[in-house]
Amino acid sequence: SERSFVMIKPDGVSRQLVGKIVSRFEERGYKLVAIKTVTPSEDLAKEHYSDLAARPFYPGLVKYITSGTPVVAMVWEGKDVIKQGRRIVGATNPLDADPGSVRGQYAVSVGRNLIHASDSFEAATKEIGLWFKQAELSDYEPVAWPWVMADN
Ligand code: GTP
Ligand code: MG
Repeated sequence: SERSFVMIKPDGVSRQLVGKIVSRFEERGYKLVAIKTVTPSEDLAKEHYSDLAARPFYPGLVKYITSGTPVVAMVWEGKDVIKQGRRIVGATNPLDADPGSVRGQYAVSVGRNLIHASDSFEAATKEIGLWFKQAELSDYEPVAWPWVMADN
């Protein structure tokens, strides 16, 4: 099953929403493969969002991610976790986000939208490799895994 990179941004950490956000992925049945706090360097933030380098909001975005407050970097694994993770996170602009999503429940500003999740398999592969070493990715089976994963 696939893996996604999910990051609680500095506003999520500062607002002490880490537990609530982690719980959404856990309760859905996804497996926590890796988790750590990181205070991103400018290089790391720029590389993470390199696809957006030409956008007018890019400098502000890099400043937001490198505020000095840490982020929580995570890898989650499970069935369709890339697409479902994006649904849990909600639309980029929290004002457009489903109220049941993280952004729709907790945020109102596109520039302070609490959380990131990979938007494709290619992005997930790049981002997991950028934020984590292979040895930081745990291999184990949650006791509930067979119940969560059965599809018959
Ligand atoms: P991420 O999960 O963080 O990658 O967000 P996303 O995939 O929903 O949106 P996208 O990758 O297009 O943009 C990355 C981040 O840039 C967003 O999460 C916002 O924080 C910020 N951003 C995107 N569009 C705008 C914008 O129009 N204005 C501002 N101020 N920030 C924006
Ligand atoms: Mg994105």
